[in-house]
Amino acid sequence: MYLGFDLGTSGLRTLLVTETGEILGSAEAHYDVSHLHAGWSEQDPAAWIDACEKTVSELRATHPAQIAALKGVGISGHMHGATLIGKDGNVLRPCMLWNDTRSAEQAARLDATEGFRDISGNIVFPGFTAPKVAWVKENEPEVFAKIHKVLLPKDYLRYWLTGEYFGDMSDAAGTSWLDVGARDWSQELLEKSGMRRDQMPDLVEGSETAGMLRTALCSEWGVDGPVVVVGGGGDNAVAACGVGCFSEGDGFVSLGTSGVVLAAKDSFAPKPESAVHTFCHAIPETWYQMGVILAATDCMNWLSKNLGPKPAELSALLGDRISGPGDIRFLPYLSGERTPHNDSNIRASLVGLDVGTGHAELTQAVMEGVGFALRDNLEALKSTGTDLQRLLAIGGGSASSYWVEMLATLLDLQIDLPEAGDFGAALGAARLAIVGVTGAAPQDVMTGPKVAKTVNPRTELSQAYSEAYEEYRALYPAIKAITK
Ligand code: XUL
Repeated sequence: MYLGFDLGTSGLRTLLVTETGEILGSAEAHYDVSHLHAGWSEQDPAAWIDACEKTVSELRATHPAQIAALKGVGISGHMHGATLIGKDGNVLRPCMLWNDTRSAEQAARLDATEGFRDISGNIVFPGFTAPKVAWVKENEPEVFAKIHKVLLPKDYLRYWLTGEYFGDMSDAAGTSWLDVGARDWSQELLEKSGMRRDQMPDLVEGSETAGMLRTALCSEWGVDGPVVVVGGGGDNAVAACGVGCFSEGDGFVSLGTSGVVLAAKDSFAPKPESAVHTFCHAIPETWYQMGVILAATDCMNWLSKNLGPKPAELSALLGDRISGPGDIRFLPYLSGERTPHNDSNIRASLVGLDVGTGHAELTQAVMEGVGFALRDNLEALKSTGTDLQRLLAIGGGSASSYWVEMLATLLDLQIDLPEAGDFGAALGAARLAIVGVTGAAPQDVMTGPKVAKTVNPRTELSQAYSEAYEEYRALYPAIKAITK
């Protein structure tokens, strides 16, 4: 038996899986994000542990014999968060999350420092770990002085599970301290940030052993043991393991809180100036590239919060089929943007409102704005030489047939929709544990989900959407010019 933990931004999902990949049960627990000031986004790591205990005890209640037979655990986590740990393992301050942009100044400085883009293969984005720690150094020097280890969120959860400090390549790639091609911490980048290697956890690949479940937890959970805890990975890499996306040419589009267009890569071929992320995959000797937009379904959540109806009720106003773009343009930069602009100051805009504009028109504009931003991401990926033939759609937003058809048309790619079921990061995490414990080949364990439906581009509407996309592209420089 195996457990896969998916430590997400709004909650933890835990999946109980057999060695052959059959899903026996799942449990979820939610927690909050605090936004003390504009651009700040923090979480109390104690909430992750509470959520872990809660979900495991729920699964123990329904599946005691299966939990007793637990052999391996894998963890996926939201990336980039700086969890600062003192000498005795205590958490020094709340974790600054991936969408915390307070360290924009420190990020720009590190990004301009020789070596960062070349060695890490990426722009130093404000959400990444190194600039956050630089912010702490400048603004909370008493906290900085006490840093014994810098852990990524899922590595802190693992520390609680095992008592050991480990990290994995895919998550470490988002710190700006990893030599992403060599899959090792970069002495040079650590030194240039005023950090030491001993403040970093040891690194393993996603399916390698990164400690054993503590004896006290084995007794508390009623587990016979021993239980291997593997390296796991950053959420997008592990989600890719959940849908079997790890060979060159495989890709997915994720419509979650944030939005992602991801392409698996056989080699390390970064192009930081495109604002595309190039990270290690959770599988040895593989990498992936992705464009990231900071708000995808988050834009629909924002709209719903302000208009009243739930996001699904709003999208139902548009029906299932697209019929061409509307007249209102929406720039979805509610939290700033990563790909392609690397701009934490820019904010969202609605352009072209009319006295007749209502819920349906606003919903269409918001969905289109996210679609255009994902087209920007695909163009950025193409500029690196990445060639995608088709995409799998995952994430909550893919439940909207309208949105998926619009994406297929805008991206000019066929989009596969998986059959309903659990194939996300929690499954990917359990699969990494299965590979680690059994020694099975990743391709035998990490198969793709069954495709329920393939959505084709509506080619007769391509021209109209492309024209609207060009209008959208023209708006960013204009809005930027009046942004403080
Ligand atoms: C990736 C990224 C997000 C977070 C939260 O670079 O910032 O995917 O990991 O999901």
